[in-house]
Amino acid sequence: MIVGAQWGDEGKGKIVDLLAQHSDLVCRYNGGPNAGHTIVADGQTYKLRHMPSGILWGKECVIGAGCVVDPGVFIEELDDLEARGLSTDLVRLSGNAHVIMPWHLTIDQAAERRLGKLKIGTTRRGIGPTYADKAYRLGIRVQDLLDPKILRQKIEVALAEKNVWLERVYGAAPLELEDLAERHEEYARRLRPYISDTSLLVDRALREGKRALLEGAHGTLLDLDHGTYPFVTSSPTIAGGATVGLGIGPTRIDTVIGVSKAYVTRVGEGPFPTEIAGPDQERIRELGGEFGTVTGRERRCGWLDLVALRYAARLNGCTSLALTKLDVLSGFAELPVCTRYRLRGGTETREFPAHQSDFHSCRPVYDLLPGWQEPLDDVEELGDLPPAARRYVELVESDLDVEVTLVGTGAERERVLTRSAARLAG
Ligand code: IMP
Repeated sequence: MIVGAQWGDEGKGKIVDLLAQHSDLVCRYNGGPNAGHTIVADGQTYKLRHMPSGILWGKECVIGAGCVVDPGVFIEELDDLEARGLSTDLVRLSGNAHVIMPWHLTIDQAAERRLGKLKIGTTRRGIGPTYADKAYRLGIRVQDLLDPKILRQKIEVALAEKNVWLERVYGAAPLELEDLAERHEEYARRLRPYISDTSLLVDRALREGKRALLEGAHGTLLDLDHGTYPFVTSSPTIAGGATVGLGIGPTRIDTVIGVSKAYVTRVGEGPFPTEIAGPDQERIRELGGEFGTVTGRERRCGWLDLVALRYAARLNGCTSLALTKLDVLSGFAELPVCTRYRLRGGTETREFPAHQSDFHSCRPVYDLLPGWQEPLDDVEELGDLPPAARRYVELVESDLDVEVTLVGTGAERERVLTRSAARLAG
């Protein structure tokens, strides 16, 4: 299991891509096209949205029941992969996954506009409204696309309510049943071969001794229950969510790798204690290419926050960590690392605040570590890192009591230093 340990964009795609070669299946369990993985392989850049990164290795790729799917985007992604010569024959889409309908997109965008200064800063892909309808039991599932009669009926029931909201609350144009039904019947023709009972498929594969890699989307602090609510996404992002989203038992997961950048980024609104106030923010953004994969938005950049990372290690039960983009920090004289928060009233804590007003008002307390000047391009093993970079990694390990087994030093597939490589390869 690979899980983002921050606010998303930790470089999970690259770690999944690295480990996918040793797996038989790669499975997504939550989220939809709000996730975006960028993978550079053989000189080509792939921006994946719905698709598990294992697609690049020709692995069986599962999109579980906990995911939400925008059929138009999904089909575009299939077409693009096929146009680049990659087979999509082993893509399996759960019939229980929910469909992002056009009204979900309109409502996500209109609701954000209406919130004004209080907006969440969503990716505007319809994610929140789709999960809300799922919980409200008004959702349309992938399997509904397969039966034109059921599909038409469900769209009609939903539209009776949605068109009132669209017109009266959001001042948007109503949607037409015929138009939507035809468009989705067309989608169904293209999607039909991919739709499977993915819970059964994953269970059978595990019983046969196959290896499954579970790929978390977004990040721990965007988790609907345990993240920085309301500035979160609408699905469970933590490791436990994988069993729910895929329909497998929790005892099936044996390894949880938390992925964290060597610093922190966040897109969208919400509190961010270690966000950098001075020019170093811009410097890290430029050096790290910190612009959203899905939205192109500038990512907010901050110093490494070990209080939040410790929280993530706890929520996910991380058995090891991958620290990505360490190369971006080359050239800084000193590197602040947040090890504690100072709360209103002056007490210091190493634990992530349970109440949002404490988190909103806390101040980071930094340990200052010496930086290193050398680029990390030629480093081939963890042991060969410059001493100051090694100390940086060791601080993370000792503070969290979790081993760092992978360190990212560049965008390309091969730029990951491994410890225990033999163990990871199994
Ligand atoms: P939504 O998931 O589009 O509803 O957006 C809710 C919040 O989660 C916003 O702050 C988004 O910027 C953030 N978010 C959602 N997915 C990702 C991701 O993959 N990386 C980083 N932030 C994300």
